[in-house]
Amino acid sequence: MAPDALVRLDKVSKAFPGGVVGLDTVDLDIVMGEFLTLLGPSGCGKTTSLRVIAGFESPSSGNVLLEGRDITGLRPFDRPVNTVFQDYALFPHMDVAANVGFGLSLRKLTGAEQAKRVREALDMVGLADKLRARVSELSGGQRQRVALARAIVCEPRVLLLDEPLSALDAHLREQMQVELKRLQSRLGTTFVMVTHDQTEALSISDRIVVMNKGRIEQIAPPAMLYDRPATRFVASFIGTMNLLQSRFLGRDGERLHFAAGDLPLEATSDSGETPAAGDMRTIGVRPEDLLVAGEAGEGTAPARVSGVVFHGRTLRLHAELGQGTPIVIDAPRRADGSQFGVGDVAYVSLRRGANCPMLSS
Ligand SMILES: Nc1ncnc2c1ncn2[C@@H]1O[C@H](COP(=O)(O)OP(=O)(O)O)[C@@H](O)[C@H]1O
Ligand SMILES: [Mg+2]
Repeated sequence: MAPDALVRLDKVSKAFPGGVVGLDTVDLDIVMGEFLTLLGPSGCGKTTSLRVIAGFESPSSGNVLLEGRDITGLRPFDRPVNTVFQDYALFPHMDVAANVGFGLSLRKLTGAEQAKRVREALDMVGLADKLRARVSELSGGQRQRVALARAIVCEPRVLLLDEPLSALDAHLREQMQVELKRLQSRLGTTFVMVTHDQTEALSISDRIVVMNKGRIEQIAPPAMLYDRPATRFVASFIGTMNLLQSRFLGRDGERLHFAAGDLPLEATSDSGETPAAGDMRTIGVRPEDLLVAGEAGEGTAPARVSGVVFHGRTLRLHAELGQGTPIVIDAPRRADGSQFGVGDVAYVSLRRGANCPMLSS
């Protein structure tokens, strides 16, 4: 166990009636004070993971530990854990103060102490002036803050958030991402958030857990996940990645030389594996790591442009390499306004210093 692990899932599996696999042998250490995000497509087991940590769901096998102590059998209310639910689960006809104070009413606190804690929590989320407002009168963003205040008022060791921003429009969502991160740093509380939105996960998290079909694919900080995806699934789920079937040519120190058809590539291998000459592997290449020129040169391969999409600062070119292999390239817009058009041949090469992972499975 990591020395600073606050929560540990130890080989946790969850099978639902009918044989549906919710979680499959999940091992996870959650570090004290971190902002951890569970990311993956719908149905991959994110909510089930949160429910197992909260105690709303008991594992079919495996254990949940808090600071090394087995809490698998502990009831939800006996765990120092609070949850912000996806639908907020507020009482619409009660006022804001009553909603936030609800969790406190189960504790032995005087009325004055409760009122003070409620005010402090609302202050934290910027709703100090809404104490007496009814929840039904509030906007979506304000309800989100009430749900947050209700969860933090109990001062949990771990705060679980299930798709907390999914009901908000894009602009408010981005603003709340910043606020959520700020709130977490200020409180120093461990946050475990669920999202299916990779941009949200990348912008807010200290570490991201990528899940697929009840299993963990990779756990890493955002930049590491982006630069060094461990599997094809992670590579294709995080950002845009060309997955190019490539032939191994040879090794030169840390650099593995490949060719995707006529296109020379250089890759790195986290596993340290060196393929045999001539072996085929999948190499991940980001669109921004490819260069295009109007003429052939050193290390280029011709590709016919089949589509051009305007992305603001860059143009995204969809093209086909010699063997009909599709490839996506992000090219800067040229100062003179000229650009590649559909049907043109672009000479593609790998940017020097680009970091292309050799992917397993
Ligand atoms: N109470 C339940 N009964 C049966 N199947 C469930 C139950 N809860 C979740 N599942 C199934 O378990 C899998 C994981 O669900 P969930 O953790 O909710 O996914 P996510 O939150 O990642 O979308 C899905 O296939 C889902 O249908
Ligand atoms: Mg869910």
